[in-house]
Amino acid sequence: MDSSCFIIWILLSMMFACHAKKCDQTPPLATIPEPSENKGVFKMTIETKMQSFLSYLPDQTYVVTLLANEPTRPFRWFMITAEDPDMDNSTYDVMSFETDVGRLKTLDTETGRKSRYSERCFNSVENTDNSDKYRVDIHWISPKQNDQNANQQVRLRAMVAENEEVWYMDDEDLIILLQKDNRPPIDSPPTAQVESCNLCSEARYEVIFNGKWSRVSHPHKYPSKPDDNGYTHMLGASHSSYYTLWQQGEEASPGLRKLLEYANTTFLEREIIAKMAERNGTRTLIRGKRRHHPFMFEPSHSLFRVDRFHHQFSIVVGMRPSPDWFLGTSKFELCTPDGWYKKSEIPLYPWDAGFMDGVAYESQTAVTTPPEHVHRVEVGSFNKESPFYQMNLNDLKPFAILQVRLLDVYPLLGEECSDDNAETDSVPSNEEDEEEGEREEPVVAESRQNTNKVCLSEWTDWSSCIPHRDSCGFGSQLRTRERLLPMNVNDKYHDRGSLLKSSKENCYTEENTNLVESQYCYVVC
Ligand SMILES: *[C@@H]1O[C@H](CO)[C@@H](O)[C@H](O)[C@H]1NC(C)=O
Ligand SMILES: *[C@@H]1O[C@H](CO)[C@@H](O)[C@H](O)[C@H]1NC(C)=O
Ligand SMILES: *[C@@H]1O[C@H](CO)[C@@H](O)[C@H](O)[C@H]1NC(C)=O
Repeated sequence: MDSSCFIIWILLSMMFACHAKKCDQTPPLATIPEPSENKGVFKMTIETKMQSFLSYLPDQTYVVTLLANEPTRPFRWFMITAEDPDMDNSTYDVMSFETDVGRLKTLDTETGRKSRYSERCFNSVENTDNSDKYRVDIHWISPKQNDQNANQQVRLRAMVAENEEVWYMDDEDLIILLQKDNRPPIDSPPTAQVESCNLCSEARYEVIFNGKWSRVSHPHKYPSKPDDNGYTHMLGASHSSYYTLWQQGEEASPGLRKLLEYANTTFLEREIIAKMAERNGTRTLIRGKRRHHPFMFEPSHSLFRVDRFHHQFSIVVGMRPSPDWFLGTSKFELCTPDGWYKKSEIPLYPWDAGFMDGVAYESQTAVTTPPEHVHRVEVGSFNKESPFYQMNLNDLKPFAILQVRLLDVYPLLGEECSDDNAETDSVPSNEEDEEEGEREEPVVAESRQNTNKVCLSEWTDWSSCIPHRDSCGFGSQLRTRERLLPMNVNDKYHDRGSLLKSSKENCYTEENTNLVESQYCYVVC
């Protein structure tokens, strides 16, 4: 060891406590120091959905079972340890890097009461008594999501003792090696986030929230008064990569809290509008209809625009009743190397906004102090009151399906967009825009599509320009249009084609479904 290496060794020794050597599971009362050969009589198993290889998802609960396969061969003692296999060959036995190997948890069940936390070894459970046992169940909660340990492995290792002389350890039937499953959670947006987008066009999208929360698909602890069930409005925005409507691990904004607590959209809308900016922040306010029992299966939709500065979108939909749970997507990227993302569907699962306590839909709630960060509703909770008691995310039925699809692309012609990137069927630039010298970004013309194809009212006039700061400068203005229902309501969503074909004459007004569009404006000082 050269001197610099030695110094690093000293520093590391000081930084990491010298507690965790590989656990010696040898039973303290053993009279024979060597384990016997197991020959498949005793076996440890883990319930995972992955058939072909043993892998785990972060932050999930798994059931680990220790079983005696022969009716005449019970075991009396056992120990199960969760450990980092990389530690085996650690050269320095005084130090160990503390890896998160998850937690073992004893259960208050017939087959669970037989175990307690070990005092001999870390991350280990052992027998509580000397009784004969044929089966022991415990839980293992996998390590938390942690990008640094992409290839992390965890080993579960068991010792089983029939008596002082016959015991088993380090046997292949008593070892489970688990590899972290690095696939993104099933509700992640399908595209990778990009910080800057080089597409020389704008695009218009439709986002549709299809609620799936029901007694049939989510029977456990389903609210007792379904008449009160519903979602809040769908709210969100298209935005730049620097804007966050909500995000796992961050605190919920005051506006989001108001939406979830009182179903009041005003504050979150204001927050979104306040962040409207030409090259940053938000662009379009997304607002979809509120759906309530018995129409919770009716979709809620909205249109929005994106451009190369605002190429992501986020939405939230509150769940009622619930402590502070919501469905949504965060920073869904629409700018891809192949152009604007065409379409997709993702399942949505509940998130906990972190400011109200409560484990069930109808829990008596209290303000969480201090507020926690936004996190997944504890799936695989150990609390029997939780609707997700001992469930894994992959077993849970989605609470909604979010669809997003590209409607139109508007190529941009301007100094900053070279013709190489422009698409061939370019829209001629709008003459009105040329007068507005202050605008650096070319503003595209409104959709050239025949609006009669969808059941929509005309746009209202643009509202007056409200500057973002002070009384002049850049600001935003809004206009709205109503989505109309075709006369034949029943056909409405079963066949989208019929909706598209119906003319405005065959439409009537659907309440509360203003589509909002925003644009930048400038007030001369
Ligand atoms: C530890 O060393 C042994 C012998 O060199 C080797 O067979 C084993 O694979 C190593 N284990 C790990 C986890 O690296
Ligand atoms: C939401 O809150 C605002 C401000 O307090 C209030 O003016 C508005 O009426 C509320 N909206 C609803 C639907 O309660
Ligand atoms: C957008 O805002 C963020 C944070 O406010 C800032 O770091 C970033 O540089 C801005 N981006 C642009 C393109 O102005």
